[in-house]
Amino acid sequence: MNEALEKVLAKKILTIGEPVLSSELFHKGYWQTHHKICSVGEHTLNVTTVALAHAMRINRGEKKVREDVVILAGLCHDLGIIGRDEKYKNDFQCGQCHAGDSVICAKEILPNLDEMTIDSIQNHMWPVTKTPPHYREGFLILSADKFSATAEWLAYLSHRDIHGKAKELIRKACMIKK
Ligand SMILES: [Fe+2]
Ligand SMILES: [Fe+2]
Repeated sequence: MNEALEKVLAKKILTIGEPVLSSELFHKGYWQTHHKICSVGEHTLNVTTVALAHAMRINRGEKKVREDVVILAGLCHDLGIIGRDEKYKNDFQCGQCHAGDSVICAKEILPNLDEMTIDSIQNHMWPVTKTPPHYREGFLILSADKFSATAEWLAYLSHRDIHGKAKELIRKACMIKK
């Protein structure tokens, strides 16, 4: 991604995602390891930036997907996984239950969350869970999640970090120290 695009991504995510980014739970996610190399918070920003970049590409010329839904669903999709060792018996239970728990956490931060965003969070684990997303926005989250998880594992295996200007700008703006 070029720097100009990264700045646009960061600005949109910081503006629309502010209630989530400033929440205590989101900050807590920066202290929980995820996919070996990163934290839940880092993975969440990977997913959100990748999904939003894809949404903006689709929206060139004509608005076809809701970027606000992509941002909020991206930022909230794994909130339920925070505290996984205390909440779930094993990885299977975590895989089956955390998406629904993320919806509960997201509603605590954003009580008026709309149906499309809820559906996109709830079904982001498909096909591990039974129901696929009902909206294009949900498929953007789902594919960005799988892409990011793969990139995070590859980064771990090659002993490197995943850098991104957009993530750096968001972290600085939210005073996340990692
Ligand atoms: Fe997840
Ligand atoms: Fe995820």
